[in-house]
Amino acid sequence: MNDLNLMEKIVSLAKRRGFVFPGSELYGGLSGTFDYGPLGVILKENIERLWLQMFRDDRDDMYGVDAAILMNPKVWEASGHVKTFADPLADGKMFNTMFKTSVGAGEEVSMVYLRPETAGGIFTNFKNVVDALHPKLPFGIAQIGKAFRNEIAPRDFIFRLRELSQMEVEYFVQPAAWEQAFEEWRKMMYLFAEAIGIPKSAIHELEVPDGDRAHYSKRTIDFEFDYPFGRKELWGLAYRTDFDLSAHAEASSTELSYLDEETKEKFIPHAIEPSLGVDRTILAILTSAYREDQMRDETRTYLALAPKIAPVKAMVSPLLKNKPELVAKAREVRAELKKIHPAIAWDDNGNIGKRYRRQDEIGTPFCITIDFDTLGETPELKGTVTLRHRDTGEQERLTLAEVAERLRTAMQ
Ligand code: GAP
Repeated sequence: MNDLNLMEKIVSLAKRRGFVFPGSELYGGLSGTFDYGPLGVILKENIERLWLQMFRDDRDDMYGVDAAILMNPKVWEASGHVKTFADPLADGKMFNTMFKTSVGAGEEVSMVYLRPETAGGIFTNFKNVVDALHPKLPFGIAQIGKAFRNEIAPRDFIFRLRELSQMEVEYFVQPAAWEQAFEEWRKMMYLFAEAIGIPKSAIHELEVPDGDRAHYSKRTIDFEFDYPFGRKELWGLAYRTDFDLSAHAEASSTELSYLDEETKEKFIPHAIEPSLGVDRTILAILTSAYREDQMRDETRTYLALAPKIAPVKAMVSPLLKNKPELVAKAREVRAELKKIHPAIAWDDNGNIGKRYRRQDEIGTPFCITIDFDTLGETPELKGTVTLRHRDTGEQERLTLAEVAERLRTAMQ
């Protein structure tokens, strides 16, 4: 399979099975926009939930915000985006990629930007979080949300979008502690990659050289990934210094410094920023997980998704649809497994092989089949079911308690 072929297959599977649809498709689409379908939205939520858990909730030094997308345009003047958030057009002129819209009506109308990064709403809430919760340095603020960029050439499916989602942290530290924090978040990004099923070996760090970094950054590492269309940025880790807080302090004439109660030292904290695009993460996951193999003389397609993020955790099915006793038992088994996780699918359509293939294609780790032995046709097998593993197609005969344990373990 060549790489372009792989890309086509991923795009086609994503559409066919309800992961990602082209935006505004009925009307010929809108370039740089995509919609997440029923399975895609769950995959996205699973990724975001895991990120929130690892980057915010499992830690004592992290706080959340959910800031407005529309902000006073002075925010983007102070942050330097009005001046520098631009890409060159073909004729050499610079084009600012922030979207503009207007608020208010009549005489009151004024122009605002759609935020180009969620970070803006983090820096501008620094003081609010300090005043409300009095966190001790170092601490960070995490946010997930939409950002908008009028990219000159949106392309490569959900890689370069005009409307995207970001998962961002601004971690505030003493100026002298920035390197240590930078290294900690660098490790954290690898832990997250591993948790969502992107192997460490698939990530390549690029130390962004002087002159190529964003205007606010003294050091940036791009975490690149081998997409089917080439090695490109997946995530970024930046040392933004005190650039943003200082700029906002000056432009808003507000004190944005931190007072160390012990040393009585007052200073503007420096920020380390791990920034992860959700859409690029989804594309990297789909690329890493897409597999084809030969099974029973047929080419089979499956997604080797990590159980933690797979949209469906298991599928339960009765061997035959027209046997009420099998159906009743299978319903009972499904209800039991749903107590462990709600995402347990039901499928009684077509033959069992076809049902397995359908689940393989959407990355369901386990399929559970209820047959006559479950009901006691072979007495020593009574109460046992077949557990089929997605990646190998192997099947095991297990008690329901053992299946439940497998499911629990897989999702840890
Ligand atoms: N706050 C820092 C910041 O926004 P960035 O490198 O411009 O830095 C961060 O963007 C991340 O957002 C990228 O690493 C990528 O994952 C994602 N991203 C940026 N532009 C994107 C676009 N046009 N489409 C999809 N994702 C994008």
